[in-house]
Amino acid sequence: MSTERIEEFLSAVKSAFAANTLIKLKLGGYHGSEPDLKSVDVKKIVAKGVEKFSFTFHYKTRDIIKNLIQPEAIGHLRTALTDEFRSAQLATTELDVSFERNGDKVRLKRSEVAGRSAPSTDHNRAKNRPLSETNKPYLQALGITGKDGVVRNDAQDKFRQINKMVEIFAPLIQAIPGDSVTIVDMGAGKGYLDFALYDYLANVAHRPVGIVGVELRPALVSDGNATAAASGFEGLSFQAGSIMDYDASGADAVIALHACDTATDDAIYKGIAAGAALIAVAPCCHKQIRRQMEAGAAAPVLEGLLRHGIFMERQAEMVTDTLRALLLELNGYRTKVFEFVSDAHTPKNNLIVAEKDGRVGRDRDAILAQIADIKAMFGVGQHYLEGLLQR
Ligand SMILES: C[S@@+](CC[C@H](N)C(=O)[O-])C[C@H]1O[C@@H](n2cnc3c(N)ncnc32)[C@H](O)[C@@H]1O
Repeated sequence: MSTERIEEFLSAVKSAFAANTLIKLKLGGYHGSEPDLKSVDVKKIVAKGVEKFSFTFHYKTRDIIKNLIQPEAIGHLRTALTDEFRSAQLATTELDVSFERNGDKVRLKRSEVAGRSAPSTDHNRAKNRPLSETNKPYLQALGITGKDGVVRNDAQDKFRQINKMVEIFAPLIQAIPGDSVTIVDMGAGKGYLDFALYDYLANVAHRPVGIVGVELRPALVSDGNATAAASGFEGLSFQAGSIMDYDASGADAVIALHACDTATDDAIYKGIAAGAALIAVAPCCHKQIRRQMEAGAAAPVLEGLLRHGIFMERQAEMVTDTLRALLLELNGYRTKVFEFVSDAHTPKNNLIVAEKDGRVGRDRDAILAQIADIKAMFGVGQHYLEGLLQR
């Protein structure tokens, strides 16, 4: 094993870290013992005045972030490059260094680059970035800021949540190819996400964007449209009506946050029917499946597990959303499920993110078998979304 070459690569990483020229380090070709680990991204952050390496471990269905100080991080990278990852790409403002390990042979390739700048390392920057300017009519209309444009004390939590949502949704939207992007938010309510996302995409990221919020309650729709006009958000509008009556064709992204019970399924169905590149839903109540599970047809082995109301509720949530993810996969989407806000804000904090990858019907028989097994186990006759997709 050429430890010299590994040390040479690590030395380039350390120099970039020290000189603030590190843009990104990516590790790939994982062949270690952790199931489902795919790749790792590493960047520099400064948190509470301390410089750290921030590792994002990308697993099949979730990401885990670990922030490490330099000696720990370099030790970790040394092990990773020696035993676990076959390739690594270091990007700095001045050079690209690629690392390839094949058996005991290690190959390094360096190439100089120009015209790049290093990203900000301020760990807190993202917290404020989407809505760093708070003197905005929509923030006042939504009750987040007062007349003075300052975030109200009792709205700090909501403000944090909105920023967090933009941090999660903006990169997903930005990953959709094309110039302009059309987003439909199903069950938009007051449109917190829509205003913030529109503001960020149009005014900070300068991505041409159209957002339509579909909402049953006409009063919320007219308030939303008035605020969008007062904000000069020409590409943001709200439309009164039900999700199922809305023609979503042409939508690049369909979103639904806490749309009630099967309204989430309506949104997923509309997204699939439109061939949307992104479908992202945060489900809320899970009554449709819970009622079927409560009817007592679940496998006898689950009796103890489903006896207590609170566990029944949690199981119903898992079964409902697992079936949703599988049905999305059956229709050509890659899915991830993760917590998108702290459960201190709401216990309904799972986000199902589905990105269309064109492999419609992949592993169809295996997915169908999984769906059938889960339904049989939990005594579920039909998931509401299945019915919609059979139309
Ligand atoms: C819990 S609120 C969430 C609002 C917003 N998405 C948010 O996260 O702040 C759910 C909203 O969905 C709307 N809704 C429920 N079912 C709907 C349907 N089938 N079509 C359109 N809107 C619906 C409700 O009127 C309500 O405003």
